[in-house]
Amino acid sequence: MKVTVVGTGYVGLVTGTCLAEVGNDVLCLDVDPEKIRILNEGGIPIYEPGLLDMVKRNVAAGRLHFTTDVDKAVQFGTVQFIAVGTPPDEDGSADLQYVTAAARSIGQRMTDYKVIVDKSTVPVGTADKVRAAVADELQKRGVAVPYSVVSNPEFLKEGAAVDDFMRPDRIVVGADDDRAINLMRALYAPFQRNHERLIVMDVKSAELTKYAANAMLATRISFMNELANLAEQLGADIEMVRQGIGSDPRIGYHFLYPGCGYGGSCFPKDVKALLKTAKDAAGIDLKVLNAVEEANDQQKHVLTRKIQARFGENLTGKRFAVWGLAFKPNTDDMREAPSRELIADLLAAGATVSAYDPVAVHEAKRIFGDDARIALVDSANAALEGADALAIVTEWKEFRSPDFDALKARLKSPVVFDGRNLYDPAFPRSVGIEYFPIGRL
Ligand code: UDX
Repeated sequence: MKVTVVGTGYVGLVTGTCLAEVGNDVLCLDVDPEKIRILNEGGIPIYEPGLLDMVKRNVAAGRLHFTTDVDKAVQFGTVQFIAVGTPPDEDGSADLQYVTAAARSIGQRMTDYKVIVDKSTVPVGTADKVRAAVADELQKRGVAVPYSVVSNPEFLKEGAAVDDFMRPDRIVVGADDDRAINLMRALYAPFQRNHERLIVMDVKSAELTKYAANAMLATRISFMNELANLAEQLGADIEMVRQGIGSDPRIGYHFLYPGCGYGGSCFPKDVKALLKTAKDAAGIDLKVLNAVEEANDQQKHVLTRKIQARFGENLTGKRFAVWGLAFKPNTDDMREAPSRELIADLLAAGATVSAYDPVAVHEAKRIFGDDARIALVDSANAALEGADALAIVTEWKEFRSPDFDALKARLKSPVVFDGRNLYDPAFPRSVGIEYFPIGRL
């Protein structure tokens, strides 16, 4: 099948590449010539395990192409994926200008049947807007060309995106006509494994499914974080509680880890956008979800609270090592990362920081610029040198089994604040480290 993907960001590039991998002819369009240049020269503009090899393989096989030429892109695919960004507006709603601009550019040029697929995470009702934008452009041209609009939300996790696409739990397709449904079934046939993964529904339900999934997951995390804070006060151990409740299959073990708050490009943005949609489109104040957001905003300061309880409010003259800058392991993404809140808090309290992350250091440089109070170093040990204490923010594998004796020797005062509960508390304590995990004593 011939497929065009509009937008070579995270979602678009993974979608286009994985569709090429199963034999489709894919043309990826982006307005940013720099991104297209990188892709055409055999690189990728983002960090995602496994993606670079897959891009190279499919480019070499002649199935995957990149362009900035809109005419060519619209002409090319029967299926046109819209995978452009939907950055949050100031008021928290998703900014749809890039989505509608993509829809309009298709409407301005199409000459034969197209399935226009919303892949970006967009509020309920966006497919209607896309349909209207295309209709408007066709009317301006005075032509009648058939098309369908489909909602096909993505459920990719950063760091596992290729595998999530190639081996999906489910593929949600919201469509109103058989022609589009049949095409989407054919396109996704290679991704079916031992049972049907494709769930066909109406367009609005598909749009809401994406938000409902992320809101439900964010709720689990905020709830566990609240329980962790409570456990700490009561003298209980959240890790034991996690195992105790996770064993109930209705609850399950996945996504039940307390920590220093959720971040990333999806949860914070989608929670905000769903709250906003509920209020604006339905006049409903989602009480649970409001609390989920508030609890997360507070949880991002949990390490600051612990640090100030130990070292005092005023941290002038103190230096803190920070392990982990990305919002989670296996990505360089620092959007809404808890590390940013922690570092801002530490600086505001007068401290300095030496931070290390296995892949996000260049991203941190872009974000922090050349702030003399933040040293971005190239190893976990280098971060410890001359630091008063260590704060762990991201659960990278390489932080999981440190030599605690050596770690203690490098710190001025042997204190570790662990925002991800990486260790059995007995281990660091056995060498005399003061250890502060989340939700356990
Ligand atoms: C998420 C969804 O999982 C994915 O389905 C959707 O398409 C996009 O949003 P992503 O943002 O890449 O994916 O990361 P995810 O692994 O879900 O983690 C989100 C945040 O939750 C991270 O900050 C992580 O540290 C935090 N988290 C996750 C916890 O604090 N505890 C957990 O138990 C799980």
